[in-house]
Parts: sequence; C-alpha cells; structure tokens
Amino acid sequence: MKAAEKRMSELTREINEHNYRYYSEGNPVIGDTEYDRLVKELKDLEEKFPLLRRPDSPTQRVGGQPIDGFVTVRHLRPMLSLDNGYSREEVCDFDQRVRKLLEVAQVEYTVELKIDGVALSLIYQSGRFLRAITRGDGIQGDDVTENVRTISAIPLQIDYTDPIEVRGEAYLSHDEFARINHQRESEGEPVFVNPRNATAGSLKQLDSKETARRKILFFAWAGFLTEDLKEHRLVLDFLRKHRFPVNPQSRVFKGIDAVMEYCNSWEEQRHTLPYDTDGMVIKVNHLAWQDVVGFTSKNPRWALAYKFPAEQATTRVKDIVVQVGRLGTITPIAELEPVFLSGSTVSRASLHNQDEIKRLGVKIGDRVFIEKAGEIIPQVIRVIAELRTGEETDFVMPENCPACASRLHQAEGEVAVRCLNIRCPAQVKERVLHFAGRDAMDIEGLGTEMVTALVDKGLISDFGDLYFLTYEKVIELDRMAKKSTENILAAIAKSKERDLVNFLFGLGIRHAGTRAAEILAENFFTLEELEQAPAEKLITLREIGPVLAESIVDFFQDAETRKVIGKLKIAGVNMVQKEKKASTRKQVFAGKSVVITGILEGMARSEAERLVKESGGRVSGSVSQKTDYLVVGKDPGSKLDKARGFGVKILTEEEFLEFVRGG
Ligand code: IVH
Repeated sequence: MKAAEKRMSELTREINEHNYRYYSEGNPVIGDTEYDRLVKELKDLEEKFPLLRRPDSPTQRVGGQPIDGFVTVRHLRPMLSLDNGYSREEVCDFDQRVRKLLEVAQVEYTVELKIDGVALSLIYQSGRFLRAITRGDGIQGDDVTENVRTISAIPLQIDYTDPIEVRGEAYLSHDEFARINHQRESEGEPVFVNPRNATAGSLKQLDSKETARRKILFFAWAGFLTEDLKEHRLVLDFLRKHRFPVNPQSRVFKGIDAVMEYCNSWEEQRHTLPYDTDGMVIKVNHLAWQDVVGFTSKNPRWALAYKFPAEQATTRVKDIVVQVGRLGTITPIAELEPVFLSGSTVSRASLHNQDEIKRLGVKIGDRVFIEKAGEIIPQVIRVIAELRTGEETDFVMPENCPACASRLHQAEGEVAVRCLNIRCPAQVKERVLHFAGRDAMDIEGLGTEMVTALVDKGLISDFGDLYFLTYEKVIELDRMAKKSTENILAAIAKSKERDLVNFLFGLGIRHAGTRAAEILAENFFTLEELEQAPAEKLITLREIGPVLAESIVDFFQDAETRKVIGKLKIAGVNMVQKEKKASTRKQVFAGKSVVITGILEGMARSEAERLVKESGGRVSGSVSQKTDYLVVGKDPGSKLDKARGFGVKILTEEEFLEFVRGG
C-alpha cells in the first residue's frame, strides 16, 4: 500500500511534468507510447487503490456525468473586449491618445499574438483549480468548470496558494479542427465552420466526456494576483513560471514604430503557425500606467487589437453543382475559377445548403470573396454585387438526384435535401468508401477511382459484394494488372478479420461515429446481440441518446441492411468483438440501476461509474421508482430525499467500495 502510494505520487508528478512540457513548452521529451504507458500504469494503480487517487491526477481529465445546462456566474471583474485598429494610422492614433493621457513622449508596449479562440477566466484557490467561466456578456458568463477540467493544457494544481484569476484563450490547432470535422462528417453531423466555432462548441458540451475527446489548447494572456508585479510582461513571466501556457511570441518595445514593425512581421508569418491568429494585441506594459490611462465603458484605453486584413482572394463562381453524400444528403458546391490562396490553389468551395446560398445571395457567374477557415477549408464569404453583369443566374436545387434521377426529398423543418434511394450509385460509392476506410475495414487500395469503377461496371452494388469479387472480374477493369488485382483481393480478404468495433463503424449507421461504435462493441460483443437490442435498451448505455438509439434500430430493421449483412455473414466477415475485456469483478450490481449523487471524495465520478458497470450494473442520471441503489457522496442534494421517498437502498461512498470490492 505504501509502495503504491509512493509510485502513484511519482507517476502523477511525472505525467503532469510531461503535460507541461508538451502543452506549455511545446517541447516533449518522451514519445506518445511511453506517455501512454505511464498513464496506464497510474490508471491501473488508481483502480486498485481508488482511495489513494490524488486530486491533481492527470487521469481525472476524462469528464464526468452529463449536465442539463450551464449555470451563469458573475465575473470577479468585468471581462471587457478590445478596441480594434486596422491600419498603421489607427495604431498611431492609439499611441497618441495614450501618450497624451500619460503626458510622456514615449510609451513601452507589450505586443502579443491575438489568438482567435474563446476567452476563459480561470479561478484558483489554495493552489487548486476551482472554476472556469466563459466571457459571456463580459459581466457574467457560463460556468464551464467540468469541461475545462478535461483540458490537459490547464493545470489543476499550482504551487501558489493565494487566490488568483488567470484569463486566456482556449483554442484548437488546425490539425485538431480538421480531425474533429472529419469525424463529424463520418457521423453525418454538420461540420464546424472554423476552429473558433469548434472550440466554443467543444466548451459548451453538456457532456464533458465529449470535451475530453477534443484536444483543446490554451494560452494565458492576463493574471490577477496579490503579488505586486509592476509590469504586464512580469505577469506573463509569473504565469509561465507557474506552468500556464503563455504564447512565446510576446515582446516588449519602446515607441510605436518598433511595435508596428513587429506587427507587420507577423502578417505573413502567421500562416505558418499551427493555430489561427487574427491580429496582434498591443498593451501598455507598466501596470501603474494602465491604471492612469483607464477604461472606457467597453474597452481598456491602454490596449488595442491590431487586426490583420483577413487573407482573401476574389474569383468567379463558374457553376454550382451538387454532391451526394453517403447518407444521401445533397450538398451544393461552388466550382470556382482556380485561384491561389494561403498556400494552395482553390477551385471548389462547399456552400453547405440552400439556406447558406440564400444568406450569401450567391448566383452562378458571380464574383466572390473567398477565405480559408482554419487555414484549410475554402469558403465563400460574400458576393461582389457591384461587379454583376446581369448574366448571372440563380442556383436551382434539382428536383431529381443527379446520380440516380430519383426524386429528392426535404423533411419538414430540416435544411438538408436528401436522395432517399438507397441504391443510388453515388451513395453506394460513398458507403463503400466509408466501409473501406481506415477506422472501418481498412482495405488498402480501395480508393475513389477503384470504387467508382467497381460500381459503374456493375461489379458491386453494396459493400457486401466486395467479398464475392473474383480475380477474373477485377483484372478486366482499366489499368489493373496481375499484381494490383492480387493485392486488392488480398486486402479485401484480410479485412474479414477486423474487429467488431471497426465493422460497426464501417456499416455507416447514421449518427454513429467511431465513439458510438466503441460503446456498442463494448456492450454487445456480437452483432447478433446488437441487432436484437430494442431502443429502450440502447438508451440505457451512457452516451447513446434517443436519436442515435432510434437510428440504430431503424438501420437493423431495414430490408436493404439485412440483405447486405446476410452477404457479409456468408462471406465469413468477423462480427464478434475479439478483444473482449472480461470483467473480473463480481457482478454485485447485476441488472441493477444505480444513481450516484454528491461529491465523491476518494474517486472521480467516472471511476465510480466504471466500477458499477464492471460489476454488472447500469448507471442512471436520475432517481426513479426503478432505481435500485443510490450512492451518496458529500452534499447529496435532492436526489437523496427522492430516493428515500422511493425506498431506494442508500450506500455511502465507503459502503459502495466495500460492496464492489468485497461483494
Ligand atoms: S487582452 C481587456 N490578449 O481577443 C481585454 N486578448 O477582442 C484584455 N484575445 O476578449 C484582452 N489573444 O478573448 C488579450 N493576447 C491576447 C489575446 C486576447 C486573444 C482575445 C480575447 C479578447 C478578445 C478581444
């Protein structure tokens, strides 16, 4: 026990150190595998000795119970926004105002990158992270503590015991933004327009487990502390010393010329950064001078946001065509005259849906401004109406699918127009590509070109047919030789051994992405069990909501699905989870419904939930007549009274542990 405690505290320290090096210094000293190994060792120990888990344990960052909504909290001091300047002239005006108020000839400024993310206020007391609040209207914001707790870049514990408020920007890297959108696309969810929206969306998740899955980053740009530091630069140094990530590009300059020169140097360079910046923030460096200069009702007079002109290009919309997605969604795409923008040539931009076309007022033939969201995704920003010739034509959503000619359908209250023909060749191609994808069956060599050829030649009409392709058929296709034919057939055959989780994802059930596939595979182990599960049973799984549950049931009842699955069964495709993690716990909660309430002292709530599940129980969020047990921590609230009313068995945290351990 003593040895375990020592090792756990060592591991906690070591992992937190690696987090710091990775997130704050951008300078990791170990690889991912080694890092994962340390985390796993700590997790295993915490599982064995839940009472020894430390409050600053990095394993806590997995998220807890979903909540119904956010509580509004008042800021300790208003969270103002910045006045903007767009030109050298406006920056000089700002400097002049400041100098006049201070009655000095020259002012020292700190210049920082303006990170394009979401502002957060973080409160620490007695060295512990206590609360995180969004900016909101500047006076009060939303309490997003549970979500922010999952952000590894933000320390949970600091070695400074006075109360302190740290403000800064939560943001996403371009890579993470692309990853999230890619995943959302695979789940048939709408994608985020830019990294800032994706960050805001991630912080506003009602389920902190979802936030935990997104790698949100953070840069601190202000601190309010009891220490009497004289300069903003020293505050940043202080934050850095206490292990908050602070952007390394801040500099101090005397006089506005040097400030302007530094700002200009970033105008091009910013495109090489792995995250979005929309300008520079210029701040009076001496805090006493900031006090003298003061505030207007909306902004500090001692700071200015110098905004970069957004990197834009103009081009012409040659045509607006429509694309058919895997789930039949019809997406209008603007075909553009090729133009070079932020590092690559752009010739297409998604217009998302008809509402967006209406909002932009874009017509075929229009000249438009385009921009890249997150430096990656080209978007039409606005139409240059002054350059219209009168030759422009309106886009009309076709009434029939461009791929299969079946009538398109728009459901009441939905923006999306869909092709409902399950056999539509465009949908079939997309479904086969999804099935063959890396997270699914991982069939190497089965790309767009190959799939298009197979569908167009009538060799396959769904992904079930892949397993019945023969050498003679495939070699007939254009540009196929002996070797490439053998390779593709071998890759298809090999995919039969993929695990259930990959298979489930590959099926392409609407709303079910990789995460849902994982949960289903963990809980069902075989496809047959899942096929027979009613929606009521699916909803009891954590993270599976009613919409997804309904979608799963519909999917398996569908005649077309049954046919395809039939083919896959005949082909001998694996449909059981091979790596079943057998629970070694006694099933003391078998078939029971357990609710957890109040603050648990010896373990995170997620840990307790896992213990219940491993002991055969189901965790539910609210007490009802059907509840069997209520586990109570500190400050239990109304659930305890309700449970007593229903005669539910009550377990203290200790009793609960005894129960799952000794039971
Ligand atoms: S200082 C009194 N510094 O930009 C306001 N803000 O438009 C002090 N931002 O709300 C803000 N990077 O969310 C400051 N280095 C930086 C920043 C920064 C991004 C955001 C922040 C603020 C907004 C103002």
